[in-house]
Amino acid sequence: MSKVEVNEHTRSIPIRFKDLEYQAKQLLEEKVFVYAESGAGNEETLNDNRKAFNRWKITPRFLKDVSEVTLNTMINGQAIAAPIFLAPVGMQGIAHPDGELASAKAAASQGIPFVSSTVSSYSLEDIANASDNGNRWFQLYYPNDVKLATSFVKRAEAAGYGAIVITVDMPFIGNRERDRSNDYSPFLQGSGIANYAVDPVFQQYMQAKQNPNIVEEMLPYFYRPALQWEDIDHIRKAVDLPIYLKGILHPDDAEQAVNHGIDGIVVSNHGGRQLDGCIASLDALPFIKDRVKDKLPILLDSGVRSGPDIVKALALGADAILLGRPYLYGLTIAGEAGVEQVLHNIIHDLKTTLALSGITSIQEVNGSLVQKIDK
Ligand code: FNR
Ligand code: LAC
Repeated sequence: MSKVEVNEHTRSIPIRFKDLEYQAKQLLEEKVFVYAESGAGNEETLNDNRKAFNRWKITPRFLKDVSEVTLNTMINGQAIAAPIFLAPVGMQGIAHPDGELASAKAAASQGIPFVSSTVSSYSLEDIANASDNGNRWFQLYYPNDVKLATSFVKRAEAAGYGAIVITVDMPFIGNRERDRSNDYSPFLQGSGIANYAVDPVFQQYMQAKQNPNIVEEMLPYFYRPALQWEDIDHIRKAVDLPIYLKGILHPDDAEQAVNHGIDGIVVSNHGGRQLDGCIASLDALPFIKDRVKDKLPILLDSGVRSGPDIVKALALGADAILLGRPYLYGLTIAGEAGVEQVLHNIIHDLKTTLALSGITSIQEVNGSLVQKIDK
């Protein structure tokens, strides 16, 4: 829902995050921008996500040959062009009419995996068709109905998604004070119904109720406050795909994930949008790494904005990071070309950062590269 009509091909796509944010703000209705930008409560965690990165500093090495720097890496046996994923961001149709179709295509063009949200504006099948050769993972908001949850993940498997990412930090939505002040929810406006609308199990439920209002019918299914480990085990048995848990912050949960045979975790506080006052993802990372060591891949998101941020996360134990708002703003500004530009810029920054740190490959990054300073 753009506020002003601008020709995408003549508008320049900013390089700096602050400029991306600023342009996206000009283009979106105020409450739509606030929904994307804001965090829960007092936004303490949203801000801490950035402060955590600022407390770690890179100590570079020189006099090493850095004429060739490679970014490619392996996650779960899958080769990726750089240790970067596009995070699941729901309802991208509110940012740009091409929504997830554009983001998934841009990710595929750069060899970067795209994680598709349960509440996408296009169905997971349409997103798969749009980004044919791309590496796509499916993010599950576990519906309050096991049959429906199973249907979603089986559809993702059939459509060629390479892993299931179950988001565990949303038994309920966080206290988004700014959205509540604006009385705004894109979910209630029906911007994230595509996967439900075409689901055969959900369609049966709709027919039984004879209510044509999809949003109303989704509401009782959408949150699963009783979500627990047995539910995760059920999904593991239902599909033959790697299972990741997104939203892990406590080392005990990370250890439990290992014990349940989970394939990987995403250390995340949902970009500060769920529990305000909770630990910054980067602060949680070293404790989690220390507990689970190399028993499973660790991804991290929340506050990653630059090449140096990625290097800090990798040095502290992450295998890759996910980007959220930066690509959503790129999408807002110029659709597919905007997301591509955001990826291009961060990849360039990562390469430069590694070279200037005396590192030539992702595999060489380790803890000796960073120091925590008092701030
Ligand atoms: C999200 N995020 C999210 N997470 C998820 O598991 N499913 C989802 O549908 C969404 N939707 C969503 C919408 C919007 C507008 C934002 C900003 C975020 C959270 C997302 O995956 C990721 O954890 C954070 O965005 C990462 O933080 P940064 O990079 O935005 O700081
Ligand atoms: C959000 C949901 C969609 O963070 O994950 O707004």
